[in-house]
Amino acid sequence: MCGIAAYIGQKNAYPIIIEALKRLEYRGYDSAGIVLYDGKNTKIYKEAGAISCLEKSMDQKNPIGKIGIGHTRWATHGVANTINAHPHHSQNKRLTLVHNGTVLNHHLLRESLLADDFHFYGETDSEILVNFLANQQAKENLSLLDTILQHSLKLEGRSVFVVHDLEDPNKIIACNLGGDLFIGKGKDKQILACSDKNALAGYVDQVTSLAPGTLAIIDADCQIFDLNSKLKLKPEWKKLKLNAESLEKGAYPHFMLKEIFEQEEAISKTIEHLSKSSNYKLEKMLEPYRRTITRLRKITIIACGTSWHAGLVAKHFFNELADLPVYCEYASEFMPTDVGAGDLVIAISQSGSTADTLQAVQSAKDIGAVIISICNVEGSAITNLADVSLLTKAGPEIGVASTKAFTTQLTALFLIASQCGEWRGYLSPNRKKSLWKELKNIPLKINEVLRNNPKIAELAKKYQSANNFLYLGRGTGFPIAMEGALKLKEVSYIHAEGLSAGEMKHGSIALIDKNMPSLFIATEDEHYDKIINNLLEIKARNGKIIAITDSLDTQIKKEADDVIVIPSCSPLLYPFLTVIPLQLFAYHVALLRGTNIDKPRNLAKSVTVE
Ligand code: M6R
Repeated sequence: MCGIAAYIGQKNAYPIIIEALKRLEYRGYDSAGIVLYDGKNTKIYKEAGAISCLEKSMDQKNPIGKIGIGHTRWATHGVANTINAHPHHSQNKRLTLVHNGTVLNHHLLRESLLADDFHFYGETDSEILVNFLANQQAKENLSLLDTILQHSLKLEGRSVFVVHDLEDPNKIIACNLGGDLFIGKGKDKQILACSDKNALAGYVDQVTSLAPGTLAIIDADCQIFDLNSKLKLKPEWKKLKLNAESLEKGAYPHFMLKEIFEQEEAISKTIEHLSKSSNYKLEKMLEPYRRTITRLRKITIIACGTSWHAGLVAKHFFNELADLPVYCEYASEFMPTDVGAGDLVIAISQSGSTADTLQAVQSAKDIGAVIISICNVEGSAITNLADVSLLTKAGPEIGVASTKAFTTQLTALFLIASQCGEWRGYLSPNRKKSLWKELKNIPLKINEVLRNNPKIAELAKKYQSANNFLYLGRGTGFPIAMEGALKLKEVSYIHAEGLSAGEMKHGSIALIDKNMPSLFIATEDEHYDKIINNLLEIKARNGKIIAITDSLDTQIKKEADDVIVIPSCSPLLYPFLTVIPLQLFAYHVALLRGTNIDKPRNLAKSVTVE
């Protein structure tokens, strides 16, 4: 939610910042802006709409300056117009700020600023924030650094802000109150700081992440301070490994399609990373908690959206492989009584910066739970919070709709569950070995499923005009039904509901008529016969049926209107295969409906507000 890019160096900042913002656009795309310092003055340029609108508006201008800060917005406070777009300047025009996140106590700050004769041009909490800093700075005659060190902890909520001070103009200050900011160093003392490490690729060679609770002076020296102790910290610089090509669509028309097709490779890389590589080997990472794991009576999973669906699938993994019950909670509904000291919490997040997840994980940590994070972004806020940080190797996921992140999360969860099962004496080492072997074959089977792409594109044509869909499954098919429905909703804007097929007859069946298609996950597992019954119940009410199955049974082919056949595998591994046709179906329906597939309306990839 909102992307920040700040540059300081010897080159003209505008083209660098605009390119970085384009890479960050998935984080918010309702308005954008840039401030540039040209050696004398700061100049702010902003536009409502996508970054291309800002870029177009700059055509006739001559944006110059070697220091600059850019922002792409996902509106929280105030509509998406030019006035509310960032950067925001203080009333005295001394400070200019961009902000990602929310200031929860902005009402109180606004009132005290009004009492001090401040006026506001827009509706954002970010404008309050810049004036709050300017007011403290003026009242106490402080440098910007001291103002932030002394007053930033009065700001409630999670946010990251980056500020420029016209009276100390050769640096920028970035403050992290609970989000992500990566700072990169390149040739000729160039510094680029961005909300996502991927946006730095091609410009810098070393990177450090600005941890929550710290600030950085962004200049050639790049000093970092702890906001609590006010002490200087030593940044840990690492080589930036990404290359800029991994951020391009290549021959694909959309990132979503590219990322669906990248799943084979992403799963293989995740298995390789967690099961072979010596430093990150799962067993090694979990070893310090082996005793805890052997004694566990339950696991709590915390996540949102697609990551939450991965958690629901993992319930089955832990149940069957480790004899462990799992409570999978929406991060935003997490209650402190959900965990106790010494409990194990698995936090799942592609981005590692989802505010709801971070908040819930922080509460669980405060209670004394052990936190394992499964995350796709090294150095993100969640990896900093976790006791054990396991990384998925999906590579940059740029389409807002999560696809390869989901299947790599399943991969990590399957590996963890079977490792726990072995340590708990529930799974023999040989059984674990053979399960891991089967998991390694999954990418090949995904390849087979992907060959259905042309057929799924045809099905999308047939069903694209329906206004409502039901997605139905049992067992692991139930969370996959929810995930399929979420995919369709977010990219095609068609209403869809994912339900337990068994639960459907307890109410939702009233919706069925000839205009309401149902997608069934009907794999040959213990639920198969019951699923067929549920399918017949829908058929008896004239509902149209699309079935995803590995069954050779002729009945399903006879009863369903359309069938997508997938290869067979161990029942626990079905989710890896059944989700693929649902991702493709959502993609093709969206394509036919002409939506903005990679950046669907109202959404953002990283939801950094609660
Ligand atoms: O980065 P996270 O995994 O924490 O994000 C959580 C959800 O916002 C995310 O999974 C969302 O539901 C997907 N983009 C939907 O495709």
